Amino acid sequence: MPWDRPEARMRARHVRIVLSGVAVAILVDGCAHTTARVATASRSTGPPQATRAEAPPAAPPARAAPVRSPGVGSAVVLARVGTREIAYIADADDRDIVVADAETLQEISTLDVGSAPAQLLLTKQGRLFATLRDRGEVAAIEGTGVDDDALRVVATASAACEPLAIATPPDEASLVVASGWGHTLASYDVTTLTRQWARDLDREPRAVLVSDDGKRAVVSYAVGSNLDVIDLATRETIRRVSLMGSQFGVDRGEIPSRPGDELPTYAGQAFAIARGLTPAGRVFVPHTRMRPGRVEEPFGPPGSVGYGSTDVGPTETFNVAVLDESTGTPLPDSVSTDGGLNCVLPRAAAATDEGELLVACLGTSEVVALDGAAANPHQAVTQRWHVPAGPMGIAMDDTLPRALVWSQFDHALTWLLAHDRSHVVVASNALPRKAPFSAAFARGRVLFHLSDERISADGRTCASCHPDGRDDGLVWSTPDGPRNPPMLSGRLASTKPYGWLGRAPDVAAHLKQTFSRLGAKSGKAGLGDDDKRALMAYLDEMKPPPVEPRAGTNQTLVAEGQRIFQSKDAACADCHGFDGVTPDAMRHNVLSWAHGDAIGIFDTPSLRFVGGTAPYFHDGRYATLRALLTHTRGIMGQHKPLSDAELDALDAYVKTL
Ligand code: HEC
Ligand code: HEC
Repeated sequence: MPWDRPEARMRARHVRIVLSGVAVAILVDGCAHTTARVATASRSTGPPQATRAEAPPAAPPARAAPVRSPGVGSAVVLARVGTREIAYIADADDRDIVVADAETLQEISTLDVGSAPAQLLLTKQGRLFATLRDRGEVAAIEGTGVDDDALRVVATASAACEPLAIATPPDEASLVVASGWGHTLASYDVTTLTRQWARDLDREPRAVLVSDDGKRAVVSYAVGSNLDVIDLATRETIRRVSLMGSQFGVDRGEIPSRPGDELPTYAGQAFAIARGLTPAGRVFVPHTRMRPGRVEEPFGPPGSVGYGSTDVGPTETFNVAVLDESTGTPLPDSVSTDGGLNCVLPRAAAATDEGELLVACLGTSEVVALDGAAANPHQAVTQRWHVPAGPMGIAMDDTLPRALVWSQFDHALTWLLAHDRSHVVVASNALPRKAPFSAAFARGRVLFHLSDERISADGRTCASCHPDGRDDGLVWSTPDGPRNPPMLSGRLASTKPYGWLGRAPDVAAHLKQTFSRLGAKSGKAGLGDDDKRALMAYLDEMKPPPVEPRAGTNQTLVAEGQRIFQSKDAACADCHGFDGVTPDAMRHNVLSWAHGDAIGIFDTPSLRFVGGTAPYFHDGRYATLRALLTHTRGIMGQHKPLSDAELDALDAYVKTL
């Protein structure tokens, strides 16, 4: 199996920070699953060289010089060691940081970091940092990875659950890290890796950038429709930028559509932020804009396409918000016009010296070049290249107008030449895989992210509504009524039968409905049996979030909540199972019928990961678990109405499932 299944275990951990020969033990409360650090240097293919795993050389270590230092993390980074140009790659499959020769695209060495690295950041000083997603750590790495100078982790610090994005201000005195599942932004001292502060964020942050004056951070999200501009001195949110613009009067995108809303709501999924170079002062946020349709009509609104409708425009478009770096305000045109599906699942971006913006499109395995000076760059595609599957990172070179792309799914590096109107890639090479990799999982992962008429008529991918295998937080109009997509990763096994109505006894049966709602080609023109099996293998094995309770969870409260959950008075366990994650597989009427619903009884959902999947109920009517618990008093369980204090305890417990 390609991924380790994490177990939920609560633990306070000691992490040793070793810097300048001083070891400091600090108490941390992250979300990783092991205490031991498994960071070993290993040498792999490439020029034959002696294997070494001992101490660093006594002389001050040579450092890699970044080719560029945009101050934002990336899955691939270019550097120079002497005159040699190399690439550092965050290889999430092999849990390695890979060092490759930028000219030959051959692997030079690897560092096993014992966790999927998400992003790397190489400062102007030549310090390399990585976010270690599963371990819940930020790591400082020394060595160049070239010749005898093996890469090695010299310090780690704990981060809130699932650290993903990393950025640094121009003075490079601190690192700002955004954690996805742990929805936290934190700042670390760059030399000691001491955490200076941390603050809460909305669900599922994915990218962060610090403004060129070092005063503000811009944070983007995979769920919701806002960007947050955060003052780094006060840590307050000073601006919420709606990716939907103001043409709809109010910022509705933040809250999912509710039955009775007369306007549809939208979402903007933003996984990348890039700083513009020419002209300077622009910040680009490529994102996917979703329109889930009006939900109040039983068989979907006019223009219904099964999932959503086209009466107000396409269900999914590609957009690029352009922010003024000095204020964080968006250029109005960039958030008020659609760019069609010029790029499906934008996942990485980088600006060129010539004013272009390159965006990696995971859904079509392409990189597109946009005119970064345009008022709405998403409409101004100038070039398009096909790259190996899974483009997750782009790094610009300095001497040539070329970009290096890391494709995680095909495990390959590719050079593109900007301004080359032939749209041909210059060179591409697949790096050797270290960990055995199931072919079905690999194929299924590609299919899950694939924009293809065998999957949907309008180019949508599974990941469009289940980003990173989770849920988009939206409420889609469907022929059955309003439907909030369930989170999939790590959760499917416990939630049979499938769909809110529990109509599908297995995943294969549910996928029939999915393909039909998406208007996929069927029969011989549709996905073959092997592909369907591969997709299911991926659904089964896709990586769940690292699931430790958040920092500061009160264990007494959690234990009290568990007692209440399992009590006769609350009766939660009657339907959701004693452990909350083995539901009774039955449909119940918990008086949750909503406008547009054809049927008012619903399959008991598994509560696995429920703390991270707001909003709640099939129609997303509750924005928080606490609101759900309050409003379902005496209706869903709670035979004897629970006090506020008891609900607080229940709330705390349910969040740990
Ligand atoms: C337009 C948004 C959208 C797209 C695209 C989409 N889904 Fe879903 N998915 C949903 C919604 C909404 C539900 C709940 C459906 C229901 O209850 O009828 C759902 C439910 C599911 C479920 C059942 C989960 C459970 O816990 O019961 C699975 C499995 C699933 N989707 C897989 C997929 C796969 C695989 C694809 C790609 C082939 C896909 N989805 C594409 C929105 C979407
Ligand atoms: C009679 C069976 C039953 C009992 C008892 C019950 N639930 Fe539920 N629960 C359901 C059903 C059915 C739904 C889905 C309702 C919907 O979406 O409209 C649900 C939904 C939920 C959800 C939202 C899940 C999501 O992903 O949106 C939570 C949280 C929840 N229940 C917690 C509890 C707690 C806590 C208790 C005890 C106080 C409880 N339930 C008692 C049947 C039950």
